[in-house]
Amino acid sequence: MKTINNAHNFHALHTLLLILLGLLAILYSSDAQAKAIAFPAECTACHGPEPRYQLKGAKEQYLNSGHYLGFAKKGTHAWYSNGGGCQKCHTHEGFLEFTQLGKIESDYIEWPSQPGCFTCHNPHENGDFELRTTKPVTLVSGVQVDLGKGTFCANCHQARTAPENVVKPTLAMKVSSHFGPHHGPQANLFVGNGAYEFPGKVYKNSGHRIEAKDSCIDCHMALPKGRYRSTPALGGHSFFLSDRHENGDVSLLTAPCESCHAGIKQLKGTRFFNVPAGDDYDGDGTIEAAQVEVEGLIARLVNAEGNGLLQKGPQALFTATGDWNVIQDLELERSTAEMAALFNYKFFVEDRSMGAHNLIYTVQVLMDTISILDPEFDTSTRPE
Ligand code: HEC
Ligand code: HEC
Ligand code: HEC
Ligand code: HEC
Ligand code: HEC
Ligand code: HEC
Repeated sequence: MKTINNAHNFHALHTLLLILLGLLAILYSSDAQAKAIAFPAECTACHGPEPRYQLKGAKEQYLNSGHYLGFAKKGTHAWYSNGGGCQKCHTHEGFLEFTQLGKIESDYIEWPSQPGCFTCHNPHENGDFELRTTKPVTLVSGVQVDLGKGTFCANCHQARTAPENVVKPTLAMKVSSHFGPHHGPQANLFVGNGAYEFPGKVYKNSGHRIEAKDSCIDCHMALPKGRYRSTPALGGHSFFLSDRHENGDVSLLTAPCESCHAGIKQLKGTRFFNVPAGDDYDGDGTIEAAQVEVEGLIARLVNAEGNGLLQKGPQALFTATGDWNVIQDLELERSTAEMAALFNYKFFVEDRSMGAHNLIYTVQVLMDTISILDPEFDTSTRPE
């Protein structure tokens, strides 16, 4: 009985072994099969182990960009700026609609997403990273601009309101706190088109228009040099020239400027570059860095002390603390001068470069704006 039993056990064990071997063989053969699968060659330029294009580095930077994070740094602007035409610039899907149809027809995007890789590139159809469109861009004034590769940025970074349509006497109650060019008039300032220009005055553009061939991209996408770059949040696909730390410190990227402005540095303790201004534009008695002069000019309109030209009196556009002044008076009318000043104030604040995009135009327009409200203002330093 015992022997039989043993033999029986032996057979059972043998069968089990065979099954196990069979299983192993199956496993092994599927492993061999996996090894035999060729990763499609047409994908390896981007997804292979030795990619030609550096997607991962670009992605690290993109995750630190305004396009991904948005101004509120919450990664939600595609959702709250979706509809009423906003989707053209704030959603991936809306921008594609715009590039395909030349306009926005959708009321809103059902499942919006933040502008990302496929908004600007079309790698799965093109096999490379060429930009989705290279067509010249028409600004709201009707003027067509070609800014090299930066033309692409101008599709979205442009004003949505032309001053000639809105700068006119207006009932104060009808002027909204959202009045202005909205929100990224960088392409307009870059070419000197889109602020309210005063009749009889001549306006010019700085050297950047001619010297920086690919405009926006030459400055905003340059990469810092060197082994340690400290952060993915500067240059490249972050598009940022400054990294603003939580403690208030700011690091600036000077690399893109160095080829033209030898020795350029961050002005200590500020978020500005040390490129000097040609003159004392803001009239404070000293010739400072160009962006500091512009800051001084803007402060003549609205400032922290509460004595800016747009803050004076109970009927002013802004309160002493710089907030929008809500007007109850049914009769009060804003003059053309006030509306022009408001438009231009918003234009240069929302551009955010403090004159760096186009210093001459910035200074000329701001000086004209200030002098229309304050005839005492000394305009002898206005660059001609
Ligand atoms: C020229 C570059 C390029 C090539 C070639 C390329 N891809 Fe991609 N692919 C990308 C980029 C860029 C992304 C987005 C990466 C990211 O968001 O991190 C991506 C993402 C993907 C994704 C994820 C999609 C998603 O929605 O998240 C898949 C899947 C993919 N690729 C498959 C492929 C396949 C399959 C091929 C070859 C037939 C291929 N790709 C070829 C650039 C490329
Ligand atoms: C599809 C439209 C679109 C295109 C194209 C585009 N941008 Fe933007 N960009 C935006 C929007 C929208 C924001 C702001 C998002 C928010 O804050 O809600 C933004 C934010 C930014 C910011 C951050 C601004 C800030 O105040 O934080 C920079 C810098 C920037 N873009 C530069 C560029 C450059 C340079 C290009 C061209 C290479 C470009 N963008 C192309 C729509 C676009
Ligand atoms: C022509 C493109 C375009 C359209 C259309 C557009 N935006 Fe923007 N918007 C931008 C750009 C570019 C920025 C970033 C500007 C910057 O940071 O310098 C921006 C910034 C913003 C911001 C953050 C700015 C701030 O100061 O807080 C908000 C909020 C916003 N947009 C809402 C909207 C809404 C709502 C609409 C529709 C009514 C809209 N946008 C339509 C291009 C556009
Ligand atoms: C707001 C637009 C924008 C977004 C979003 C964007 N890119 Fe780009 N990308 C550009 C521009 C502009 C260039 C420079 C194009 C040039 O010089 O021809 C560029 C260049 C590149 C290049 C270099 C191509 C080359 O020829 O060497 C790669 C790689 C790249 N992008 C990958 C990505 C990836 C991956 C993402 C998403 C994580 C992404 N981009 C998102 C605008 C964008
Ligand atoms: C000559 C270099 C240069 C060129 C060209 C240039 N910019 Fe700028 N831009 C700057 C500087 C400097 C600032 C201020 C940076 C800062 O304070 O972070 C700035 C600020 C900005 C900001 C606000 C960013 C922020 O972090 O607040 C946006 C958006 C922007 N530029 C978009 C553009 C667009 C779009 C173009 C092309 C039409 C362009 N820039 C061309 C130098 C340049
Ligand atoms: C391709 C060359 C080039 C690059 C790159 C460049 N600039 Fe300029 N920049 C110029 C020229 C040319 C002028 C005009 C000088 C003049 O009119 O005296 C100028 C003028 C300026 C001015 C006004 C100074 C004045 O008094 O007119 C500022 C500010 C400025 N640049 C800042 C920057 C910053 C910041 C960067 C980098 C983010 C930069 N520039 C990149 C060529 C360049």
